[in-house]
Amino acid sequence: MEKRVKKAILPAAGLGTRFLPATKASPKEMLPVVDKPMIQYAVEEANRCGLEEFLFITGKYKRAIEDHFDSAFELEENLRKKGKDALLEEVQRLNHLNFAYIRQRHPLGLGHAILCARPFVKDEPFAVLLSDDIIDPDDNLLGRMISIYDRLLCPVIALEAVPEDDVHRYGIIEKGEEIEDGLFRIKDLVEKPHKKDAPSNLAIIGRYILTPDIFDALQSVQSGKDGEIQLTDGLKAIMGRIPLYGYLFKGKRYDAGDKLGFLKATVELALKDPKLSVPFRRHLDSIVRGT
Ligand code: G1P
Repeated sequence: MEKRVKKAILPAAGLGTRFLPATKASPKEMLPVVDKPMIQYAVEEANRCGLEEFLFITGKYKRAIEDHFDSAFELEENLRKKGKDALLEEVQRLNHLNFAYIRQRHPLGLGHAILCARPFVKDEPFAVLLSDDIIDPDDNLLGRMISIYDRLLCPVIALEAVPEDDVHRYGIIEKGEEIEDGLFRIKDLVEKPHKKDAPSNLAIIGRYILTPDIFDALQSVQSGKDGEIQLTDGLKAIMGRIPLYGYLFKGKRYDAGDKLGFLKATVELALKDPKLSVPFRRHLDSIVRGT
């Protein structure tokens, strides 16, 4: 088996119902956060870790994602002729990466979406990034997870401590031994438990380093009541055979998967933007003061 993580999978087949009607005919992943689509944050994050091969798991009405990551010959020519060099550089910045697309034909859940990646991944470890979770671009969560994988050669998933009232929104782990600061060997996991049944408040967040073992495991998993195959259940199934590690993230994650989280991500990332931060902060202050 290839030992280095070189490929990133970006599931993007969800229906985006939380953002209707905006997502009726365009993908949720293309909603702009400040000046770029939500999914581009995940691509850039993976690329900062040296990953250059990307597979998007898409579905109906998701063609805009392909267009976005394609080179835009006419636009580029136009910008070149007008001498808009900075913009040209910006739109060409990701052109050297390799992008592939597989359609998930039926909405059968995140686990099934990962199974669709099997022919692309073959026999290699790979990263999964859920673009709803935007990790602060100044943080190197994925890089740290890849170095843990390089040492242990076992799957590593990202964890965050969440308030008890939010455990029903996430996969939740039962921690086993803390083998080093913030790194747990996972004992058990459960998808979206009720608060009273949650084994901890440590939630799985949307960054995973997986090995091809996950594919057979997912194939053996039964779909739930809703007909979906959960990635969390696939992870539970591999745990009997190989260790599964959880890395506790203490940095800043923006949960852009619903309207409030999306607005928070937009505001906070705009406040970090060198050109926008001063006038935007001034505007927010004036709203708070009611002037
Ligand atoms: C998915 C996973 C869940 C995880 C979450 C992180 O849920 O199934 O285990 O905690 O992503 O964002 P979703 O948000 O797709 O419902």
